[in-house]
Amino acid sequence: MCGIMGYIGGQEPTKIILDGLAKHEYRGYDSAGIAVINHGKIEEIRTVGRVKNLAERVAEAGLRGEFGIGHTRWATHGGVTENNAHPHVSNDNRVVVVHNGIIENAREIRDELEDKGVCFHSETDTESAVQYLGYVYDGNPKEAIVKLTGRIRGAFALVIMFADKKEIWVCRKGSPLVVGHAGNAGFCASDATALLEFTHDVWFMDDDEMARITPAGCEFFDFAGRPHAKETMHLDWNAAMTNRGSYPHFMLKEIHEQPDVMTHTLLGRVASGKIDLSSELPWTAEDVKKFRKIHFVACGTSHYATMTAAQIWETFGSFENRCEVASEYRYRNIPADESTLCIFVSQSGETADTLHAARLAKSKGAECLVITNVRGSTIHREVGNALITPAGPEIGVAATKTFTAQITVLVLLGMYIAKLKGELLPETETRLASALMDIPAKLAEILKQEHDIEHIAREFADARGFFFLGRTLSYPPALEGALKLKEISYMHAEAYPAGEMKHGPIALLDKELPVVALIPKNDMWEKTISNIEESMARKSPVIAIAAEGDQAILQYTRSVIYTPVTEPELYPFLQVIPLQLFAYYVARQRGCDIDMPRNLAKSVTVE
Ligand code: AGP
Repeated sequence: MCGIMGYIGGQEPTKIILDGLAKHEYRGYDSAGIAVINHGKIEEIRTVGRVKNLAERVAEAGLRGEFGIGHTRWATHGGVTENNAHPHVSNDNRVVVVHNGIIENAREIRDELEDKGVCFHSETDTESAVQYLGYVYDGNPKEAIVKLTGRIRGAFALVIMFADKKEIWVCRKGSPLVVGHAGNAGFCASDATALLEFTHDVWFMDDDEMARITPAGCEFFDFAGRPHAKETMHLDWNAAMTNRGSYPHFMLKEIHEQPDVMTHTLLGRVASGKIDLSSELPWTAEDVKKFRKIHFVACGTSHYATMTAAQIWETFGSFENRCEVASEYRYRNIPADESTLCIFVSQSGETADTLHAARLAKSKGAECLVITNVRGSTIHREVGNALITPAGPEIGVAATKTFTAQITVLVLLGMYIAKLKGELLPETETRLASALMDIPAKLAEILKQEHDIEHIAREFADARGFFFLGRTLSYPPALEGALKLKEISYMHAEAYPAGEMKHGPIALLDKELPVVALIPKNDMWEKTISNIEESMARKSPVIAIAAEGDQAILQYTRSVIYTPVTEPELYPFLQVIPLQLFAYYVARQRGCDIDMPRNLAKSVTVE
């Protein structure tokens, strides 16, 4: 949720920290702050709003130091005020802290310290940590942090400086944190992308682990203070991937990256009409026969990717699938055991609910697999078995290219399992494999219609809300289309299986509530047309996402976005880009902050 950046080395730290915070801004953007150590004194500046406001304040004040830490906040405890912004400094000005996560027993610690005469100045949970450190610190940072980590409960990535020490300390439980070292400089960040311009070899902090970062190197300890060795992980992303280039928004750039992303995702996994994941997955035919049930578990867009794939799987294999949102899965008593394959999908690999659901499934003995875009992310490290979506860093808060990469990997996975089980007909494998290889070019064709889609989006940008309708395979993409619109344009949008409308939601339809109908050329075409007619009879304008060559749809609406033709099972791959572009241009017409929509953060690392 929040973003953290820390630097210690030979250079003046403020610019490095501010640049790092700007790269983290998609994680939280309601307030920001920076603290440096300057000749043994803590100096800090905090401000409400964006990192650029902070940069202006830093420039005005001429803030300079030897090393420092910074934070961009997504408020959980305490409103959006300068006082609640991080860093927080202990009353004795000896300790300064930035924090991502939630300290669950903050109230208890605060009461205890207040009883001892310690004053508090903010409404945040974080202040309990820094005042506690100030209270127990006697010149030995490691001992103070051991005491702190033994005292606080909840989720935390904490970065700490002690005014009298030339070092940065970090500790982690439940919230992401990555550490790097290059030359005579040490770094820490919430996201590895912020470190790419300095190093590609990083240490992802594990739970119950702390580190001391100095210009000379990094040392790692457990929460009892015992040192241990730790392997670096090499990142194959490059710094240029985190730039917006000439696009006005990351979201638009990422939408346009989808043909390439899909090509990369297929690379090495499909060749000569055959699917092969054997170099990535350890399973034999015997192993997969054990998987009697398949649980897909994810949140948000990743959840809709699983719903999309689960339906595609049904077309070629006999799977007992269920798709669950992680925040429910983790609290329900859903039977999972050694005969269950649990597939966790998470772009970031840091979503707290998905991570906890994976821990639960593991504890029940289920076979677990993760599909993630971030190699080395917490869920990847904990689950082990993984398929990586090589989409590159996704910065826009609204997920786009990772959805396409996820459904690609998921469909390949289903085909591979069905093949190992002996269920995938060779002709189905060849037909779908070759159709999948053709999809990137078709995505590029759809992108050429961007201006037509923009035109339709502008026309409807003042609607009261939207319904997104689709049947069978088109229903999950409808859900994703509605989510995109809600997230970035703040318009109410609901997705329904089109046949369900008459069981209630149809009551809402009128001329101010347009319907976006997903109507590919498949065996549900006629039934979907009936649903379109039902909507039109209530005067709802209809925008159709139809397949090329479908002239008949023009009898019902002139607002048609055509996708190329593909195999019936694969239309979801083509339906999503028009919906992403539609949401993007509606939001743009409405003047919304597309890459950083209100109230949202890119990865939800708290419950
Ligand atoms: C998508 O546009 C959203 N930002 C959100 O729903 C996201 O997909 C969800 O939070 C899951 O994130 P993850 O894939 O990183 O786990």
